[in-house]
Amino acid sequence: MKLFNYISLYAKFIACMVKKDTVTNEEYGKSYDEVASTYEKWVGIMGKHVKPLIKTEFFSKEARVIDLACGTGFISRELLSQGYEGELIGIDISEMMIKKCHEMKSDRVNFIQEDAIKYLEDMSHKGEHVDGIYLGWALPYLEQKRLIEVAYKVLKPGGYFITISNCKGTLVGVEKTILEVMMNNIHMVSKPMEAKVRLPKDEKHLGRWFKKRGFKSIHIGEGEEWVCYKSPEKLYQWLRDTGVLAGVDKVFYDVREAEDLLIEEFRKSHKTSRGFEVNHKFVYGIFRKEGGISCE
Ligand SMILES: C[S@@+](CC[C@H](N)C(=O)[O-])C[C@H]1O[C@@H](n2cnc3c(N)ncnc32)[C@H](O)[C@@H]1O
Repeated sequence: MKLFNYISLYAKFIACMVKKDTVTNEEYGKSYDEVASTYEKWVGIMGKHVKPLIKTEFFSKEARVIDLACGTGFISRELLSQGYEGELIGIDISEMMIKKCHEMKSDRVNFIQEDAIKYLEDMSHKGEHVDGIYLGWALPYLEQKRLIEVAYKVLKPGGYFITISNCKGTLVGVEKTILEVMMNNIHMVSKPMEAKVRLPKDEKHLGRWFKKRGFKSIHIGEGEEWVCYKSPEKLYQWLRDTGVLAGVDKVFYDVREAEDLLIEEFRKSHKTSRGFEVNHKFVYGIFRKEGGISCE
């Protein structure tokens, strides 16, 4: 029965992929609309890993920096609060995330609802350039090759690309748990997420992505954070409220119907002696486009 379900699910996925009926960029944006009011929970725990990457000393008063896939604007807020004096452009595909950013009310930040790569490609066509690009926790949503190549074109010589991202080994067992629910309830499954979601294996792998496309690696690193809850309901709530499950709501015809099943599966798969846990494994890097005057 299990093998039959497995084959049926993958046959369905292949049929969807052939028809190009997978979760779209816009649908990821809609998923993030749903969590715009709760997303700060993520920032509350994971923000400490982003703060060391806020390098105001890299940028002059005249600098222009993009906060790509800005979410609720954590990176922009940190840059401003740490004394960044240049111009900031925040880009996000989610309408509600951008609405949240507008609460910031700073005349030095311009928030725009747009697809990240499309925004950079438009800039590149217009021949516009920036001094820095930040990308926090959004690398898996973007086609990395296209992203890094267009970022290279848009950055001025000496400009910085600074990123932090989930990597392989993150959320151990979460994908398997969701697949288990899908496999046992194929009639509830609408379509798969896209296969473009590729995670770097480790810091060296991230470094290679950028080096291959002309960047110098200034600093790379990796880390891990665990979250633990007393119940699978609370663990599920963390995953949902922080956007970790973005896209999963589009995989099921009716995610409300699937929620109880997912929680029950998490009860079985994520119990440890401390409670119900997941890990968030991540890599980060500071990369520079060579060619200008720069500081290490
Ligand atoms: C995990 S959040 C990260 C938010 C923020 N960068 C931070 O560090 O807290 C991911 C963000 O990526 C955005 N996103 C996903 N796909 C996108 C795309 N194709 N273009 C622009 N933004 C996108 C989502 O709407 C969401 O706000």
